Amino acid sequence: MGRSVDEVRSDIPFLDTGVIYLDNAATTPTPEPVVEAMVEYYHEYSANIGRGLHRSARRATEAFESSREKIARTIGAKSEEIAYTKNATEALNLAARGLDLERGDKIIATIFEHHSNLIPWQRLEEKGGIELEIVQEGSDCIVDSSAIEDAIDNSTKLVTMPYVSNAFGTRQPVKEVGEIAEDNDILFSVDASQAVGHMPVDVDEIGCDLLAAPGHKGLLGPQGTGFLYIKEELLDEVEPILSGGGIVEDVEKHGCEFVDPPQIFDAGTPNIPGIIGLGRAAEYVLEIGLEEIEKREQKLVERMLRIGELEEVEVYGPKLPEELGGVVSFNLEGMDSHEVSSVLDEVAKVATRSGHHCAIPPMRDLGLEGTVRASVHYYNLEEEVDQFMEALTDIAEELAG
Ligand code: ALA
Repeated sequence: MGRSVDEVRSDIPFLDTGVIYLDNAATTPTPEPVVEAMVEYYHEYSANIGRGLHRSARRATEAFESSREKIARTIGAKSEEIAYTKNATEALNLAARGLDLERGDKIIATIFEHHSNLIPWQRLEEKGGIELEIVQEGSDCIVDSSAIEDAIDNSTKLVTMPYVSNAFGTRQPVKEVGEIAEDNDILFSVDASQAVGHMPVDVDEIGCDLLAAPGHKGLLGPQGTGFLYIKEELLDEVEPILSGGGIVEDVEKHGCEFVDPPQIFDAGTPNIPGIIGLGRAAEYVLEIGLEEIEKREQKLVERMLRIGELEEVEVYGPKLPEELGGVVSFNLEGMDSHEVSSVLDEVAKVATRSGHHCAIPPMRDLGLEGTVRASVHYYNLEEEVDQFMEALTDIAEELAG
């Protein structure tokens, strides 16, 4: 079907404030059709799911459940392989805590993890006697897949990595590591927070068993939503974090009979409007086309990489758009990243993120306090990138002289 950039922009009233929003890696604005789907729920069938038999409850259940299929289509999965969560962090916690890992098991992660895909494994290390090995070999902010292979031993149960580094934007070698995991018969879990909705993602092609993503980034969905893809064969092996109402067939004084996955992951009243909105958002990005989104983001990133021509600017990672997601991470010599980000906002209404981006270990590894991060989505304009560059050039010139 396709959707032009202008059409998408006209669906995002936030852009009328004049903001040049280059903080899409933190969260994206929510288009009107997504907001409308949530308003429709509140106005027309505002009921709980999986419980009542009245028409609004049935409609709510149907809408809530239908989001699984729409989300699944963005990553080439089946509906029943989608467990809803409130964000990628919860999804990654579900992966770490839900698997039956035992004392002495080894987990391999990379230096490029967002804290959300590091701390849940650290908790197992501290409390459960799991060995956590962090692979940091690599170059240009891309981990070396052969170093991951070398780290695998007989006790290794799982390897995990980001699809795209949230701090540096670099695409990581997920397909190679998927093959390595398969050859060694270990689980492979991917944090795809900066990839889903930004590019075609295919869980079979990556060969992953678990994949986490938020709703409020690439998918243009509402905050407070996310999901964990759990490969069909593994569905019964992942223990839900929550138990309680809504996930049982029968309950005795001692013991109960649970429903099957994926509904077993929906204890309590979930974020019903949010998940309905996320389903609409998944449809919306599919209507734009994931390949179209990726192509456009690469064009914008290529344009943005020209900031590297400024003498005072250091851009981290490769200077090739095809090796990046929609993210460019940089510093301006002689200025703290927070200061640069604040001035960009003050003088040109350019929104970027600064600091460590919830990824302190790779920052330390590179001897950095933080970086300025500019991140795009399909709806951003070439003119916006140019205005960002002009503002940065002015800051650099002022600094020089
Ligand atoms: N995880 C988000 C980021 O990288 C918030 O900025």
